[in-house]
Order: sequence, then structure tokens, then C-alpha cells
Amino acid sequence: MMRARIIGVGAYAPKRIVTNADLEKMVDTSDAWIFQRSGIRERRVADESEATSDLAVKAAQQALERAGLVPDDIDFIVVGTTTADMQFPSTANFVQHKLGCRRIGSVDVWAACTASIYSLAVGSQFVQTGKYRRVLCIGAETLSRITDWTDRGTCVLLADAAGAAVLEASEGESGVIDADLYSDARHWELLYMPGGGSRNPASHETVTAGMHYAKMKGNELFKVAVRMFGECAGAILERHGLGVRDVDLFIPHQANLRIIEAAAKRLGMPMDRVFVNIDRYGNTGAASIYVALEEAASTGRLKRGDLVLLAAFGGGVTWGAALLRW
Ligand code: COA
Repeated sequence: MMRARIIGVGAYAPKRIVTNADLEKMVDTSDAWIFQRSGIRERRVADESEATSDLAVKAAQQALERAGLVPDDIDFIVVGTTTADMQFPSTANFVQHKLGCRRIGSVDVWAACTASIYSLAVGSQFVQTGKYRRVLCIGAETLSRITDWTDRGTCVLLADAAGAAVLEASEGESGVIDADLYSDARHWELLYMPGGGSRNPASHETVTAGMHYAKMKGNELFKVAVRMFGECAGAILERHGLGVRDVDLFIPHQANLRIIEAAAKRLGMPMDRVFVNIDRYGNTGAASIYVALEEAASTGRLKRGDLVLLAAFGGGVTWGAALLRW
């Protein structure tokens, strides 16, 4: 069977750095609290001129360059995001145009932070079935735009970035082996944005009530996240007859260092095989796994033939895991 091999990765983080010390001036918090509870020291925030597609295009350009390809070589684009440029057209649609691609198909995947795994799964399916030879998968967010900067429970966590991976049909061993996707909206009230959709269309009232900001029950979400994370990562390994010992690198969604540590412990995965960069980027939603993948690849942490386990969770709730051979 054909595999979707990752032949180039790219990432882009906005220039502006917001440190914990900067946040101390905005809300009642402290560097010590933020670092101890989340592992975050600083995050990037897009400037006013940058929308999600602008970040996505920069990450995609780097991924294409590293793959030795030009935009015309791409057959389809999938963008995972929760912070689309507009309600419509899709962010992927803007990326298609701004990159200068042919009139290829493009689609956004909405699955909150798990859109990283969802977008990779959607892209790799098109490649595996032989429909498309090369698919550009992107995770991109400007979560700062749906952040209430007076809410200390969320503003210390959320951030902006984009990452991209070019998938190409390959008959070799390397590529996406499998991806498992899950959702359960019984927990939707743990993380959501109520305003602007068909349930609560944008109005003066919704804006006054702050309904265009992300709402989170952090403590409850924490517990659900640790459980889902560990379960789905273990399940995908087991189904493939693999164990934690076979995994060279575990790249989890970077939501909170304590969640990552608890999930790794539950899985029996030593932290020296877990990739962490949340200290410098915060929670970049659907972008986080792509950004981490790029950093792991460009710093030599990933070597050809390595077995890589990815796992994410997010609002909805949604969660999922993927296995790939680098
Ligand atoms: N600075 C200082 N104090 C803060 C704070 C901040 N930024 N945010 C919350 N607090 C306070 C709370 O008000 C609470 O005070 P109280 O005890 O007087 O009521 C106290 O700290 C403890 O709050 P709690 O929510 O129980 O802390 P926590 O240990 O659960 O950590 C999170 C909070 C948000 C860091 C943590 O729950 C978390 O990361 N949850 C998951 C969030 C997540 O991953 N979301 C994205 C999913 S993709």
C-alpha cells in the first residue's frame, strides 16, 4: 500500500514575543505561577497585519523549499485551524491563492487543537488512496484573536504560530502509518467559543458579553486531556503490535507541560523521548504538533527510520493519535 511520506516540514512563529513578565503587567498573575502550572515562559503573538493564512503561507513556503518543490507541484491543501481568517472562504482557500498554487482543492479541518492530527489524517488518506500525489498539510492559528486578555485563566496559555508538512506518495517504509481520530461533545463546555456562529450570531450583545473569546474550564479539561491522551496513544501502538519501547520520539500537543508529563507517565514513556517546546511557544492549537515536528527535524532530534508517535486533544472534546516512520 502507498504511504504518505513527509518530504518537507516548515514552521513560522510571529516575531513579537510576549513573556510571562509582560503578562504580569496585564493580569493578576506571576511568572512563577505560569511556569509551574503550564511550563510556559513565553509565546508569540501575531501583529495586526497578520491573519492565520499569512502564518500558514510562511510555514508552507519553508516546507516546500525543503522538499525541493514549487507551489505548482501540490495537488491538494488541508489546513487545520480554529481561527480561520474569516467564516468563509476557508483559510486553505486563501493559502492556495497566496502561495500561487494551481486551482487545486483546498479545505479547512475544524477539530480545535486536534486539527493537527485530523489534518494530517485527511491529507494522508488522499495520498494513500492514490487520489493525490502531493498534499500540503498545515496547522495554523492566531489564538490571540479569540483570547480575552483580561482572563488570566486563558491568556497565559494561548498563542500564535503555523507549521506545515508536505506529503508525497511513496512505496517505502517511511510515512504516515496510521491515525486514529475521536470526538465526544458531552464535554463541549470545557472549551469553546460561543459567539459568531449560527447558535449566537455576532451582534452588539454577543460582543458586549465577550462571546467571541475562548471559554475554558481548565481544571476539568486537564483531567479529561490526560486520560484521552494516554489512552489513544497506547491504543494505536497496541493495534500495530508496538510498545512504548519501539517509539523513538513522542510528539504531544503542547498544551501544558504538566499534561504532557502526566500523559507520558500514564503511557510509561520516559520524558527523554518526549518532545517539548511549550516553554517558548505556549499552546498554538492546531499548529503545535507541526511546529514541534519541524523543530525536531531541523535540530536533528529526528533521524531517518525513527518511529514517531503523535497525540493531541482539544475542545469538543476531540483527541487523536498518529504513528509515522520518519
Ligand atoms: N495566574 C495566577 N493564578 C491563576 C491563574 C493565573 N494565570 N489562572 C488561574 N489562577 C488561579 C485560579 O483562579 C485558582 O485560584 P483559586 O484557588 O483562588 O480559585 C487557582 O489559580 C487554581 O486554579 P486551577 O484552575 O485549579 O489551576 P490548575 O492547576 O488547574 O491550572 C491551568 C490551570 C489552566 C494551567 C490548567 O488547568 C490547564 O492547563 N488545563 C488545561 C488547559 C488546556 O490545556 N487547554 C487547552 C486544551 S487544547
